[in-house]
Amino acid sequence: MLDRFGRIATDLRLSLTDRCNLRCAYCMPADGLEWLPNADTLTDDEVVRLVGIAVGQLGVTEVRLTGGEPTLRATLPELVGQLAALAPRPELSLTTNGLTLARTAGPGGAVTLRAAGLDRVNVSLDTTWPDRFRVITRRDRWHDVVAGLAAAAAAGLAPVKVNAVLLRGVNDDEAPRLLRWCLDRGYELRFIEQMPLDAQHGWTRARMVTAPEILASLRSEFTLTPLDGRGSAPAELFEVDGGPARVGVIGSVTAPFCAACDRVRLTADGQVRNCLFAREESDLRTPLRAGASDTEIAELWRAAFWGKRAGHGIDDAAFRQPDRPMSAIGG
Ligand code: GTP
Ligand code: 5AD
Ligand code: SF4
Repeated sequence: MLDRFGRIATDLRLSLTDRCNLRCAYCMPADGLEWLPNADTLTDDEVVRLVGIAVGQLGVTEVRLTGGEPTLRATLPELVGQLAALAPRPELSLTTNGLTLARTAGPGGAVTLRAAGLDRVNVSLDTTWPDRFRVITRRDRWHDVVAGLAAAAAAGLAPVKVNAVLLRGVNDDEAPRLLRWCLDRGYELRFIEQMPLDAQHGWTRARMVTAPEILASLRSEFTLTPLDGRGSAPAELFEVDGGPARVGVIGSVTAPFCAACDRVRLTADGQVRNCLFAREESDLRTPLRAGASDTEIAELWRAAFWGKRAGHGIDDAAFRQPDRPMSAIGG
């Protein structure tokens, strides 16, 4: 699957739901968001069929399950099992808020997901302090996430990565402490610049904590050596204090990686989205439900990807934030 700039899509980001059990300030309002109707959400069979086309005919090799919060999907382990049974088998990873990973029952437990075929997890955690967690996510669940991270590591979902967003005046003093906390536990930390994808449309460049600020703050306590070989990954990686530990900084806004982007997204309601910041989507759900063949769907998907834009355009005067928030696009 190729676009007109020669980029090849190998990484499919699959949103399984737009719902979430946290309300992170940079993502969702405290209440009042409208959810996708259930009837519009792809069923497991539909998801498996589309991913099967992506890996079988379109060259996708990695599938990341995202949300909203993907562990809210009641059949997640069964779905992971079906995706792991596809040929060729894609690498399967999960981006989650981590709340359910320590559970031994229910769809979100790390042991269950590992047994079903999940390869690894990226968990969002923005602070080492429970009080701050409550302010940022509007829920008092810090200890659940911490237990979830430990459960993921114990279950062999390696490497466990932690995603942190810094908010000015809230946790922007915490970069070195977060890194120390993750290093002590063997997790790979990546800081993410806050992007204009919040449902409230409250993002401003001035309030965004930038990648250079984050690096300067980390360098007050650590020696960071840039690592080559970022490839298509969003994170710029650094060796910490001579290695082998690493830290990443995802400067999506100040250092876009769009030119090397190998991602294509599928929303929970079956729309192909070429970029987090795309203005347009291509509907696969309607043809799928109308009886299109695998070859026809592959053709529609290829045509959709061909139109991927050169970049996110956040710096363009004409930039408008997408209507869908991050939680509905998939992180
Ligand atoms: P791995 O490197 O494979 O572990 O995954 P990842 O970093 O792509 O996964 P994750 O879902 O944890 O994404 C981390 C963050 O990278 C996201 O939350 C986004 O902030 C950013 N990101 C992911 N995909 C894109 C993208 O297509 N465009 C931009 N600008 N940022 C992205
Ligand atoms: N900017 C940057 N990162 C965000 N995330 C959610 N919303 C935003 C935003 N506006 C992060 C979450 C999670 C990942 C999927 O995306 O913290 O780690
Ligand atoms: Fe939920 Fe993730 Fe959005 Fe936080 S960032 S509210 S965990 S979807």
